Amino acid sequence: MTCVLVTGGSGRLGRVVVERLVEAGFEVRAASRSARAPGGGVRWVAADLTTGRGLAEAVAGADAVVHLASAPYKGRYTLRVELDGTSALLAAAREAGVGHILYTSIVGTDRVPWGYFRTKVRAERLIQEGGVPWTILRATQFHEFIEQALRGMARLGVLVADPGIPAQPVDVRDVARHLVSLIERGPGREIEDFGGPEVMTMAEAAERWLRARGLRRPVLRVRVPGTLGRAFRAGHLTTKAQPTGEITWGDYLRGA
Ligand SMILES: NC(=O)c1ccc[n+]([C@@H]2O[C@H](COP(=O)([O-])OP(=O)(O)OC[C@H]3O[C@@H](n4cnc5c(N)ncnc54)[C@H](OP(=O)(O)O)[C@@H]3O)[C@@H](O)[C@H]2O)c1
Repeated sequence: MTCVLVTGGSGRLGRVVVERLVEAGFEVRAASRSARAPGGGVRWVAADLTTGRGLAEAVAGADAVVHLASAPYKGRYTLRVELDGTSALLAAAREAGVGHILYTSIVGTDRVPWGYFRTKVRAERLIQEGGVPWTILRATQFHEFIEQALRGMARLGVLVADPGIPAQPVDVRDVARHLVSLIERGPGREIEDFGGPEVMTMAEAAERWLRARGLRRPVLRVRVPGTLGRAFRAGHLTTKAQPTGEITWGDYLRGA
């Protein structure tokens, strides 16, 4: 049976990927910094990308690795996880003879001048040059991530959104299904995009979220300044790639 290791198996996307891989009949190993009891057909291994603890054990005997662990917007720790950690994982995977590493990045990393996106591009290069057959999937923003950002602003009393920025939110269930199909296909040695089924402005996404959650907050329409704003408004967070996910923002908001 093909054995797949999922780093970041406890995360938003990781939890669903683990479930879908089990359903698809893979032997699934999931990594987290904390020890967890086995369950749901998954064997958990304790591994920390920043110290290398547990990495060799995590990859031993794995045919493929789905690398989802990340730590965005945490300063130096972000670089340690995304760059040093990815390098350490690649070294362990090479040593263990892993046949495919599948890395998840973000649509627009190469076109949006934003610090975290630059880090993701550097991590993508490590994957491409890491000596393990690879695939990179760049996804658009997850529904949960957008909701978390909107919830944070709602707590402050006002939602701020640039009405010129198109967004294409995607559901982690669709991304997980697509990732499983890429594992089944094998290493493509290419960067692919994956987005949600519809494009809307961030302001529209915010209005619809307020209605769905029964909240009343003003939506302040403010243009993001500078080159960053221009890159966002040029649609660099969206993709024309096919196929797309099927679950819409509306479906997600309805709990479907
Ligand atoms: N969020 C989005 O909208 C979005 C959009 C497109 C692409 N992506 C990409 O998709 C991937 C998954 O994102 P997500 O939002 O699902 O992530 P998440 O929920 O933030 O989960 C991050 C995971 O990383 C693990 N992790 C953090 N530090 C670690 C370390 N030092 N060693 C080992 N594991 C560590 C955590 O595991 P423990 O805490 O259990 O150790 C957790 O499972 C990321 O590469 C992200 O860039 C995200």
